Amino acid sequence: MPSTSRSDELVFFVNGRKVIERNVDPEGTLLTFLRKNWTLLSKSWLLRLTGTKYACGRGGCGACTVMVSKHDSVSKKIRHFSVTACLMPICSLYGAAVTTVEGVGSIKTRLHPVQERIAKSHGTQCGFCTPGMVMSMYTLLRNHPQPSEEQLMEALGGNLCRCTGYRPIFESGRTFCMEANCCQQKGTGKCCLDWGENDSSPLGKKNEICTKLFAKEEFQPLDPTQELIFPPELLRMAENPEKQTLNFYGERVTWISPGTLKDLLELKAKHPKAPLVLGNTSLGPGMKSQGHFHPVLLSPARISELSMVTKTSDGLTIGAGCSLAQMQVILAERISELPEEKTRTYRALLKHLRSLAGQQIRNMASLGGHVMSRHCYSDLNPILAVGNSTLNLISAEGTRQIPLNEHFLAGLASADIEPEEILESVHIPHSQKWEFVSAFRQAQCQQNALPHVNAGMRVLFKGGTDSIEDLHIAYGGVGAATISAHRSCQQLLGRRWNELMLDEACRLLLDEVSLPGSAPGGQVEFKRTLVVSFLFKFYLEVLQELKKLDGCYSEISERFLSALEDFPVTIPQGVQTYQSVDPHQPLQDPVGRPIMHLSGLKHATGEAIFCDDIPMVDKELFMALVTSSRAHAKIISIDVSKALELPGVVDVITAEDIPGTNGAEDDKLLAVDEVICVGQIICAVVAETDVQAKRATEKIKITYEDLEPVIFTIKDAIKHNSFLCPEKKLEQGNVEEAFEKVDQIVEGEVHVGGQEHFYMETQRALVIPKTEDRELDIYVSTQDPAHVQKTVSSTLNIPISRITCHVKRVGGGFGGKAGKPAVFGAIAAVGAIKTGHPIRLVLDREDDMLITGGRHPLFGKYKVGFMNNGRIKALDIECFINGGCTLDESELVTEFLILKLENAYKIRNLRFQGRACMTNLPSNTAFRGFGFPQGALVTESCITAVAAKCGLPPEKIREKNMYKTIDKTIYNQAFNPETLIRCWNECLDKSSFHSRRVQAEEFNKKNYWKKKGIAVIPMKFSVGFAATSYHQAAALVHIYTDGSVLVTHGGSELGQGIHTKMLQVASRELKIPMSYIHICETSTATVPNTIATAASIGADVNGRAVQNACQILLKRLEPIIKKYPEGSWEDWIEAAFEQRISLSATGYFRGYKAFMDWEKGVGDPFPYYVYGAACSEVEIDCLTGAHKKIRTDIVMDACCSLNPAIDIGQIEGSFIQGMGLYTTEELKYSPEGVLYSRSPDEYKIPAITDVPEEFNVSLLPPSHTPLTIYSSKGLGESGMFLGSSVFFAIADAVAAVRRERGIAEDFTVQSPATPEWVRMACADQFTEMIPRDDPKTFKPWSIPIA
Ligand SMILES: Cc1cc2nc3c(=O)[nH]c(=O)nc-3n(C[C@H](O)[C@H](O)[C@H](O)COP(=O)(O)OP(=O)(O)OC[C@H]3O[C@@H](n4cnc5c(N)ncnc54)[C@H](O)[C@@H]3O)c2cc1C
Ligand code: FES
Ligand code: FES
Repeated sequence: MPSTSRSDELVFFVNGRKVIERNVDPEGTLLTFLRKNWTLLSKSWLLRLTGTKYACGRGGCGACTVMVSKHDSVSKKIRHFSVTACLMPICSLYGAAVTTVEGVGSIKTRLHPVQERIAKSHGTQCGFCTPGMVMSMYTLLRNHPQPSEEQLMEALGGNLCRCTGYRPIFESGRTFCMEANCCQQKGTGKCCLDWGENDSSPLGKKNEICTKLFAKEEFQPLDPTQELIFPPELLRMAENPEKQTLNFYGERVTWISPGTLKDLLELKAKHPKAPLVLGNTSLGPGMKSQGHFHPVLLSPARISELSMVTKTSDGLTIGAGCSLAQMQVILAERISELPEEKTRTYRALLKHLRSLAGQQIRNMASLGGHVMSRHCYSDLNPILAVGNSTLNLISAEGTRQIPLNEHFLAGLASADIEPEEILESVHIPHSQKWEFVSAFRQAQCQQNALPHVNAGMRVLFKGGTDSIEDLHIAYGGVGAATISAHRSCQQLLGRRWNELMLDEACRLLLDEVSLPGSAPGGQVEFKRTLVVSFLFKFYLEVLQELKKLDGCYSEISERFLSALEDFPVTIPQGVQTYQSVDPHQPLQDPVGRPIMHLSGLKHATGEAIFCDDIPMVDKELFMALVTSSRAHAKIISIDVSKALELPGVVDVITAEDIPGTNGAEDDKLLAVDEVICVGQIICAVVAETDVQAKRATEKIKITYEDLEPVIFTIKDAIKHNSFLCPEKKLEQGNVEEAFEKVDQIVEGEVHVGGQEHFYMETQRALVIPKTEDRELDIYVSTQDPAHVQKTVSSTLNIPISRITCHVKRVGGGFGGKAGKPAVFGAIAAVGAIKTGHPIRLVLDREDDMLITGGRHPLFGKYKVGFMNNGRIKALDIECFINGGCTLDESELVTEFLILKLENAYKIRNLRFQGRACMTNLPSNTAFRGFGFPQGALVTESCITAVAAKCGLPPEKIREKNMYKTIDKTIYNQAFNPETLIRCWNECLDKSSFHSRRVQAEEFNKKNYWKKKGIAVIPMKFSVGFAATSYHQAAALVHIYTDGSVLVTHGGSELGQGIHTKMLQVASRELKIPMSYIHICETSTATVPNTIATAASIGADVNGRAVQNACQILLKRLEPIIKKYPEGSWEDWIEAAFEQRISLSATGYFRGYKAFMDWEKGVGDPFPYYVYGAACSEVEIDCLTGAHKKIRTDIVMDACCSLNPAIDIGQIEGSFIQGMGLYTTEELKYSPEGVLYSRSPDEYKIPAITDVPEEFNVSLLPPSHTPLTIYSSKGLGESGMFLGSSVFFAIADAVAAVRRERGIAEDFTVQSPATPEWVRMACADQFTEMIPRDDPKTFKPWSIPIA
């Protein structure tokens, strides 16, 4: 529709202020509107609200959560609900009030208790997820000032955090809950808050064991009367609704919002192709990522008829406009009103509604949108279909009803609705006596994950019998639409509900619901197995119901009953234990105390500025990247002409525009002539807006000619001898000879998948060229500003000294922002130099995941020789990592992998070899743990294999082979394992491991379909780099004449609390309160030639530099202090200035001695080790592959922690990240090397519901003092590997299943232990009956690359 007509005014409120938009763009979302709107709304108020963050743009992470308040025309009440601003069309907000994190509270005025508590409970690390968390909790409290813990879990279910491990976030919310805030210590009657009972102080002033990390007593109370009221003007508008149609015209799209149903129907007749926008949770992602375009959008938001709910004698009619969250309430209410037998369909729907997406999406998504989208994975349509629901359709011509059946769901023309029709409501009949309805779903994780397969099943029996009168089964996830197994069901009519029927039903279903081997989404055998496993569950459920109705039906054996129970969402509990500081330590000295993250409060109010929150600079332009769609090809031509014709497009940057060096010869910034992976950057568009730049990238035509070979997998790389660097090898003893003398030998393979960093803040940079002397300012989200500076310098051919790199804070890095940001900084800098404009480059989530690579997938082969008592005599491991297309950090990762492979074990005869494979995948890079989490999994898998062969529990083999006395590692570095043993023993003790092992075995004997597994894993983690020069660090400390102090150092604040720790160091050294000291940013202009903040060593080495600078300054002040001991700090500084004493000093730390001689295989590569142990217990569902984390206990050696709150946060966060690596995070590549998993929908990082039900962390009291700053230890990475305790607990449970079923032990280890892997490993009659395809007969949807 042409946009010649005048738009209506869009009126809504933001944070209590009225917004009138006269030229709103219907394609815009609330998120862009809040973040980018520069309109001066009133004299002093700009709308640029950057507290609401962009992290995925698809509703999947919750970083953009805000609260919307609307007057509900049906209930006549104000509804407050959380939404994801990234999917909220701006036009849908007519008459609504929006509250963002800025409207909740501010450090400048008044903090809201939610903000105060999340910060003070240490619920923020990088802080990028924090505003979203605050808004989810705030909305909950607006509706329920004293919520239950279950409501809190539900509210946070749609918010992802990649740093914290969720425990402290939940804990902060729990302080508002009505339940006693006591864990009850699992029935002991003792409260975790009473631990360290003698500790009278909340923050542990006595030198003893503490369990409190924050002082709850300090929190201000919640006062609901202080909240913003719903604007009276909007209330008046709602009470006298505008009946006229509102039109908003944009450049390409028109939004029409009629005021009456009649108008809506007329508009639908006029624009039959125009979709109805309700929640936009289906349309939005389609328009954003799949290029769907709709010139006209119809919004029925103001039509109250679509939100009507009618209770009839035979069922419930729910308006299509009701949100899924409203539907939950409606169903729950109806369930409470009706007898149980009438509500079985409602119960099944409610069960799925609880796990469908996160709270925000349920608040937005409508029933009508859900039904009409007909997604193949729909959780509700299978149940609605089997429940005989009807769709009430309406058009200008009248109304009609159609069944919600397989024809409708398949979109068949015969059953489809006419383009002019809309769905008015859905009628869901009551169930009846002798009718049973159930719902099943299996997803990668329990909550907030799209299902792999789901099902709705209903059976009706002839009254008083078990003869099937009617049967309906529908599946989702096994085809292009929801599939109804109509034929099979028909054939089973009249059959009795017994095992014979079940067998027949399985056979029929597998025949009817057939999935080809190449089916999209893959997991074909798993899905086939779920089809029959779900049926088996239904069979048992119904049998049990029949038994309840009529006692004459056969009893289900107790051992089989466990098949029926789903794992409930549990509320995490736990205790964090640490050593309090020495009682004689001065109160003002903050070292060792659980000080809140320096930016915690600003994170919580949205006032913490991240790279893309920096206000727009004059003449700024945006950049978007064009990447290769081929894995290995010659570039024949790049045609940019169509892109340049588009409005707003300024230029296209190619390799030819680079004035200096285009990266390295084999690792180019911008591709020239040839591409070597899908996702390689070829060129970049510069335009006036980000949307224009992004659109233009699609118009650039690149012609390729495919080249050979194309290598994706490690296997293929080995076959083609395709490696990135020479082999790394370490050897000790005589491996061959030892193999000859052992009792037994086992050989096995281990495959560990890669991992996406999934930092919440995607890669971004802002480059500002200065007018003079070719100077350039770069604001960038990086762990290594000096590397960005250097790369930009060589790319532009400008001396390093002219380029200043600034890092205020980074929204999560985990290694992914060590090397890669330099690429983005440099390309943006070329754009800035060529156009003369500042350039902003913000990667969207899809591009970030596609381009940047991640953790190296690994393939390991081992051969282990051992005695029958479990003593390992020889171990030979060969590892291959998939490095991708360029070297990046692959050589270093291989070295670290080999150095760390031995983990905690002393084995006399060892051979470790490692190679980095070159493949046509995006280059993999540094990732927390740097090879250790993958490599040590191979070692621990050997242990498990030995245990299985010896018939001993794995922990016995671990104990037997662990380092016991002062010894030397495989590379000849001497160390004392005393602390390792202490961690191990304490972990066994604290977790009551042995008694729980017995209990798990008892449980397993009693339960056939559920099994428990438990595992305890020791860890020796080496900290730092294997080179002294990489441990050097510098700091600059200025004291100003008012006594205030400015500290700068070389570390980047990534959320790990480095700035907080540096302030603690400076405060101790200068003997002044922390409030005197400030850190403003990390900048290459203040501290040059820095090393990446990585390898767990950042706080340690920079702390030494800060300490050094402070000590220099204090030495200079000493004569004055001696002379005026009674003087104040300010007096001394004033006197020093008078006496011309320099109040500025550079501190320097030359680094720990570290070296490694790879020729000889010996060295002293690491300054020190961190030891730890973790015990995890899980329960698995053998029929679905799901697992529940029952409990984890971690004991970690932090020695003298600089800040126990931060260190425990690092341990918990890295543990949960490790747990993700080993259980749910799965990268999927097409056979053409295209990464499928490019959003939180497809790649599942742990959510709050994945945290172990009981999660205890304790820091081991120090027993020795390493040469580090105040004897602390770097804990950034080590917890990652402890996540493998969950993996081995799952493997333990699977082993119990296989033992019981007499299936041979399989020594091929596959990580992650996804539901697919677990289900297929628990082989049974169902896995046996599924058809298997010959791999040679089809092309799989995805390929394994490890
Ligand atoms: C992050 C995320 C997670 C999700 N997780 C799950 C999950 O776990 N399980 C699951 O089943 N689903 C899931 N979904 C999908 C979600 O359930 C659907 O997107 C949602 O229900 C669609 O409703 P909507 O109101 O947003 O539809 P919209 O996007 O507004 O509209 C979708 C379509 O429906 C049509 N339509 C809407 N109303 C009517 C009407 N009254 N008459 C005729 N046509 C109409 C529109 O024309 C449009 O074509 C998820 C979605 C997201 C974004
Ligand atoms: S950015 Fe909106 S949900 Fe992720
Ligand atoms: S603190 Fe949650 S993502 Fe960083």
